[in-house]
Amino acid sequence: MRPDGSGSRLTAPRALCAAALGAALAAPAAAADSPSIEQLEQEVRQCAACHGEDGRSAQMPWNGRIAGQYYEYLVYILRQYRAGRVRGLNGSVMAGAVAHLDDARLKALARYYSTLD
Ligand code: HEC
Repeated sequence: MRPDGSGSRLTAPRALCAAALGAALAAPAAAADSPSIEQLEQEVRQCAACHGEDGRSAQMPWNGRIAGQYYEYLVYILRQYRAGRVRGLNGSVMAGAVAHLDDARLKALARYYSTLD
């Protein structure tokens, strides 16, 4: 599947958590090269195809719940996937999903999901 999610047969989410999106960007750790809210929203929609709108993966629990996960863990594991170091099971699915992310986007996504319940 392509990293932009266009290979997915799953439907795009209708609503994202705008408050959490804003918080993810307003965080002091956000660097000057942080993505815009539109860019972050676009990324979140791709993740949502497999992890659900709220990051709880309720409809596909095997994808793992990412809402409310520790920020540090999310940054760590997303970097591992991006580097292609998580193998077996469906590691390659995630590697494709995050291959295009730079560190600023990766951290903004980690912050976004860590702030969800
Ligand atoms: C095509 C479906 C798909 C997309 C799109 C996708 N993921 Fe995943 N994700 C998975 C699967 C499947 C796994 C479990 C991978 C494994 O077995 O290692 C996973 C695992 C994860 C994990 C690890 C969970 C844990 O408990 O360790 C995180 C974090 C994660 N995804 C975040 C994201 C983010 C952020 C995005 C958007 C940039 C994203 N995913 C996009 C399918 C997807």
